[in-house]
Amino acid sequence: MLDVSKIVEPDRVRREAYTDAAVFDLEMQRIHETVWIYCGHQSQIPKVGDYYQVQIGRQPMLMVRGKDNKVHVLYNRCPHRGNMMCGDRHGNTGEQFRCSYHAWQFHHDGRLKQIPMMESGYAGTRLNKDSPELSMKRAARVESYRGFVFASLSATGPGLKEFLGKSIVAFDDMCDRAPEGEVEVVPNCFRVIQHSNWKLFMENQIDALHPSVVHQSTGRAAHEVEKQLAKKAKAGEALSYHMLSAFATVTIDKWDNFQTISYPYGHCVLAGYMGLRPQDPDTLAYDKIMIKKYGQKRFEEIVGVNIHHVLVYPGLSVQSPLQQLRAVRPLGVDKTLTEIWHFRLKGAPEPIYRRSLAYYNLVNSPATLINADDLENFWKCQQGLASDGGDWVSFGRFHGRDLEKNGVVETGPGMGTSEAPMRNQMKAWAQYMGNAR
Ligand code: FES
Ligand SMILES: [Fe+2]
Repeated sequence: MLDVSKIVEPDRVRREAYTDAAVFDLEMQRIHETVWIYCGHQSQIPKVGDYYQVQIGRQPMLMVRGKDNKVHVLYNRCPHRGNMMCGDRHGNTGEQFRCSYHAWQFHHDGRLKQIPMMESGYAGTRLNKDSPELSMKRAARVESYRGFVFASLSATGPGLKEFLGKSIVAFDDMCDRAPEGEVEVVPNCFRVIQHSNWKLFMENQIDALHPSVVHQSTGRAAHEVEKQLAKKAKAGEALSYHMLSAFATVTIDKWDNFQTISYPYGHCVLAGYMGLRPQDPDTLAYDKIMIKKYGQKRFEEIVGVNIHHVLVYPGLSVQSPLQQLRAVRPLGVDKTLTEIWHFRLKGAPEPIYRRSLAYYNLVNSPATLINADDLENFWKCQQGLASDGGDWVSFGRFHGRDLEKNGVVETGPGMGTSEAPMRNQMKAWAQYMGNAR
């Protein structure tokens, strides 16, 4: 096997990090099956017995609501002969899990409830009803923050809050914008399978250099539509297109005015909310509810949070001001699933939700050109990296010119397109893989 210590240098990484199946297996084991991975939102499983399948690294897991109202995360495997416990992506398991093969039954927290004719069938064997190997295995650790559920398959390591560090702002920003202080999920997501390595997606999320190149044509088209809608006095629809064009028509030099802030564990924030403080009647109605709830000062603090994207490494990209996130589920060295979710602000008027939905459809859905243009580049990168045309991937832009303090790396003034976030991700990657340099 390749020596992983040779793969990463501070400003570049070898192509095998994206193409070697053995590297992929090792990163599943040392990263995705070790650190805190986003499972889902509690509102996906509101009732007792509700469950949702979730992939953590290579492990098929279940997130389930127990009788005590707690959320449990279990391996989706029957301890008897290994049958998958739930075949559906989500549903309600009723009073207990019941295996479809030989009817072993389990409580929602995974403990054995009943085996058909346990007494007679297992008398005198090594097994009795208290044997731990007769329970469904649980994720080593499960924690939630403001309704967002994470699990770690490792019993050791930092707690969730310590792990999230400053990236916790993603969930605070999203929930604080709700008059009731919390969000609820819109009950299904888009799922996209990309034929490329998971790291290409994560790197692209905070790549401030690419939008003005890749998304320029979409931005221009959206701007034309926006102008036509404005002429027809369709303010709400024009605003939806504005949110797309405002982001996709920013020129390269303007992206340098944005800032990225990279944190320990590979997390990163892209600051800049594109000045989206509209003054239309729907926004003003929402503002009024928020001010009544929080007071003018706190309201200004909440809507003044200036974030475009938060990357929670290694598996989550959050756009908190518009209540959406993408969860990354690696399937193979060149195959990655992304789940694209969006949320409602509890207590906010319906038009504010429609705005989030419009952004979801126009920017993040598989139907939008934005997504398609990114996907094409990911696939083309994967093709190029699989070739013998070169050994290294370069992250050298503005290398050595970022401002670093206590493990936090801020891009300097006018250097928003620095590749600092990719360097930071690969630094965390190398540390996880046991080869910090
Ligand atoms: S495999 Fe589940 S009860 Fe037999
Ligand atoms: Fe993009």
